[in-house]
Amino acid sequence: MRSQLFATKSIAQIKQADVAGQQLHRTLSATALTLLGIGGIIGTGIFVLTGTAAAEHAGPALALSFIIAGIGCAFAGLCYAEFAAMIPVSGSAYSYSYATLGEGIAWFIGWNLILEYMFAVATVSVGWSGYLLNFLDLFGIHLPYALSHAPFAEASAGSYRVIHTGAILNVPAVIIVGMLATVCYIGIKQSSAFNSVIVSIKVAVVLLFIGLGVGFIQPHNWHPFIPPNAGHMGVYGISGVFAAAGVIFFAYIGFDAISTTAQEAKNPQRDMPIGILASLVICTVLYVVVSVILTGMVSYKKLDVAAPIALALTTYEPHRWLSAVVDIGAIAGMTSVMLVMTLAQARIFLAMSQDGLLPKFFGRVHPTFRTPSVGTVITGVAAAIIGGLFPVGILGQLVSIGTLAAFVTVCLGVLVLRYKRPDLPRPFKAPWPWFTCIAGALICLTMMVFLGTATWVRLVVWTIVGALVYIFYGYRHSKVRAQAAETAPGTATH
Ligand code: ALA
Repeated sequence: MRSQLFATKSIAQIKQADVAGQQLHRTLSATALTLLGIGGIIGTGIFVLTGTAAAEHAGPALALSFIIAGIGCAFAGLCYAEFAAMIPVSGSAYSYSYATLGEGIAWFIGWNLILEYMFAVATVSVGWSGYLLNFLDLFGIHLPYALSHAPFAEASAGSYRVIHTGAILNVPAVIIVGMLATVCYIGIKQSSAFNSVIVSIKVAVVLLFIGLGVGFIQPHNWHPFIPPNAGHMGVYGISGVFAAAGVIFFAYIGFDAISTTAQEAKNPQRDMPIGILASLVICTVLYVVVSVILTGMVSYKKLDVAAPIALALTTYEPHRWLSAVVDIGAIAGMTSVMLVMTLAQARIFLAMSQDGLLPKFFGRVHPTFRTPSVGTVITGVAAAIIGGLFPVGILGQLVSIGTLAAFVTVCLGVLVLRYKRPDLPRPFKAPWPWFTCIAGALICLTMMVFLGTATWVRLVVWTIVGALVYIFYGYRHSKVRAQAAETAPGTATH
């Protein structure tokens, strides 16, 4: 089993084996990929988590947290870009680690990508539902509590204990996940066009906030810029800045999802790096500017609310239309995040099933729509159930830690492959690989450390479940293992 865990696939093997991926339509340009990236990035993080992060951890220094998380993502993004240009297949970090670090790590990454994408769809659906309730409230429409909230919640922030809230199901969350899974089932072209419209709306709302908000800045709100530590690790002070970086890291998740659409890109070698890096740069700039303006408009102490951006604007411009516009932008923003994540998850299932690590039906491509239809349905059903039952608090940090684990592995994988296979053609190369890869891995690891014990415990439980699935299914059905047995009968590991 040991040798099997470290078995790698050659890049030629990975490309060849991506048969189903090759059947997908190649329709995405560099611009469409960038929009897909922005579509996956701007959402719950900026519209919801900025407030909590400023109020509980960083104060006005939230901008620094965004810069720290942005730098970590930029290094990881450069590594993703190198891999995505070199191995343009639909499995993203999962396929990259299969080519470099072996099947065991590839499984770990694939399993964590499920934590990232499928659970992010669920997480964002809960935020979406909250904004929808806000919006309907403006018009005097109130949905029953029992049918619009999660039945489970954390006993207290960061606690292991889960309590019953008295609600039955978060119905709006379930409905939106179902609708988006249907869009993804029908096809990437439609999905991409739909995405572009939504991205325009949410970016317009962010720009509206920046344009209006800059006039209402009260510089005294920025003092002290880094509030003194309150006596606990992560509550203000320098440790608070890092803790906030761990929380708002969620806001950056999504740029890596572009790499899962490599088989649908017209010219992946050139366009993948452009799409990943351009969307990351655009979002980082927007986030830093928004956080500077937000903490300048309102004291950070008042920002611990579900809709901090709307709160800041309506403090100065108490117009209902403005609140409605911000709600619409947030709802649109979160919709496109869920869309991109659903697309990405279905493609991860596709790649893993092609390798035999998940049952074949996970990778079935629809004969007419040419989409990974069964993977899309599985993603939709699972995310709807999770989003219908659990709150943002539990889900969001789990998504972040799983994603960070994948980022660390990608950063290290790039370095390993530079050393092991210096000969491979690299249409895009991450600059100063020793520095970029190691700094990327370290920054991401630091953010993981600040995510708290309860989240770590959940990650460990998720990993154990994944290890069991691998031992009882993936290991037995692995195609790499079957091929090894064919080429060297009697030497295969059992
Ligand atoms: N980055 C995405 C968001 O903020 C996941 O919602």
